[in-house]
Amino acid sequence: MGINVALDGPSGAGKSSIAKKAAASLGYIYVDTGAIYRSVALFMLRNNVDIKNKEEVSAKLSEIDVKLEYKDKTQVVVLNGEDVSELIRTPEISMAASAVSAIPEVRTFLLDLQRNIARENNIIMDGRDIGTVVLPNAQVKIFLTASAEERAKRRFKELQEKGDKSTYEEVLKDIIQRDYNDAHRETAPLKQAEDAVLVDTSDMDFDRSVEKIISVIKEKTAEEKLQKKKEHELMPIDPVEPGKNVNCFLWIVHQLFRFLVWIAYKIWYKVEYVGTENCPKGGGNMYVCTHRSYADPVLVSIPVRGPFRFMAKEELFKGNIFFKWLIIALGAFPIKRGNGDTEAIEKSIRTMKKGRNFLIFPEGTRSRDGKVGKIRSGAALIGAVSQTNIVPVAICFEGRKLKFRSRIIVAFGKSFTPAELGADSTSPRCLKLIKNKISQELNNLVNENVKKL
Ligand code: DC
Repeated sequence: MGINVALDGPSGAGKSSIAKKAAASLGYIYVDTGAIYRSVALFMLRNNVDIKNKEEVSAKLSEIDVKLEYKDKTQVVVLNGEDVSELIRTPEISMAASAVSAIPEVRTFLLDLQRNIARENNIIMDGRDIGTVVLPNAQVKIFLTASAEERAKRRFKELQEKGDKSTYEEVLKDIIQRDYNDAHRETAPLKQAEDAVLVDTSDMDFDRSVEKIISVIKEKTAEEKLQKKKEHELMPIDPVEPGKNVNCFLWIVHQLFRFLVWIAYKIWYKVEYVGTENCPKGGGNMYVCTHRSYADPVLVSIPVRGPFRFMAKEELFKGNIFFKWLIIALGAFPIKRGNGDTEAIEKSIRTMKKGRNFLIFPEGTRSRDGKVGKIRSGAALIGAVSQTNIVPVAICFEGRKLKFRSRIIVAFGKSFTPAELGADSTSPRCLKLIKNKISQELNNLVNENVKKL
């Protein structure tokens, strides 16, 4: 993943020109997401669609193919094969873009396009909801604003230079109206992300604003590097990694914790293992397990020989320090939930490459009633990239919660590899094959074993 800078703010704050210059000087790609909303608006106006009518607009979306192309790092907006980069820069389109952008179906329709660009490149992406919705994990978030009067003054000058006859009052009225529309729409309203840096350019000239943005980006990316270094220092080596770089102390702590927790479980619950012969002997396997309780990672790891790692939601690492160290000692590493935490996904793959076993809960969340929920794409993606053995595991007990002396069956199914399914890439077809197989295996295991309770 490249460096993602999310730049949000109201119309006319100078985002596009400031971001363009800052991106050029940093060697990043500048992505103007307003342009894609504008091309949707252009398409609707050309086709006489009533842009206030949600249903009419939504029904037409399937006829639109918008692409952002980059020639010498300059954005070209292509609407159904036509370069519309210039055509979309009129006050009429500005207003229409504001209207279509308030329609949830339009926003969903454009989401993947924006995320895909950000995935591969160092970018500054400008918009309204980039830091809050499109790229919530962006390394740098900036909210750029200026007073409505100052913004109107700048836009008026720009329009005059283009020969547009709008008056200052009209421009100001437009800006106030668009601010209101953008901030009051139901879906993804314009608002500053909690972790965004506020930059007010009312009293800054253009060059000063660019300098300011560049300095925020440099500062934040340096901070991020430092933070990563600190995290690395906190966990100088993975506690569960055997081999020559092992920190013996941490390795012993890991084994000791696993053992102590296991003893506690033995006393507290009645655990029965089924199909442990299905656990592959070596490491580097992916265990996909139904998720019933916080006890699951330890329950699964006990009969699995060798080092063992699993993902746990990031919030668990921020709370009680004792709990944090306990889960780290047991092999957990954090994942940001919600929007495909690519770093955690990459870490899982590296973990298995290094020969450690890895546990994932492919439903993404706990099941209260024990039924297998929808399998998410994350597990399938990790399986498809790592092409490793996938071992299904079901945890079965009666009732919604574990109680003192609850009987628990932990059942291991036969492992399979993505290649056996014909899933040799990360294409949607392959991910579907893996998801279906995981779902089928987990359902079979659960159905077979709940009967024994
Ligand atoms: O930045 P701009 O003026 O080109 O944006 C045109 C319209 O599109 C604006 O009214 C807000 C909307 N927009 C949005 O809702 N979300 C974005 N990410 C970008 C623009």
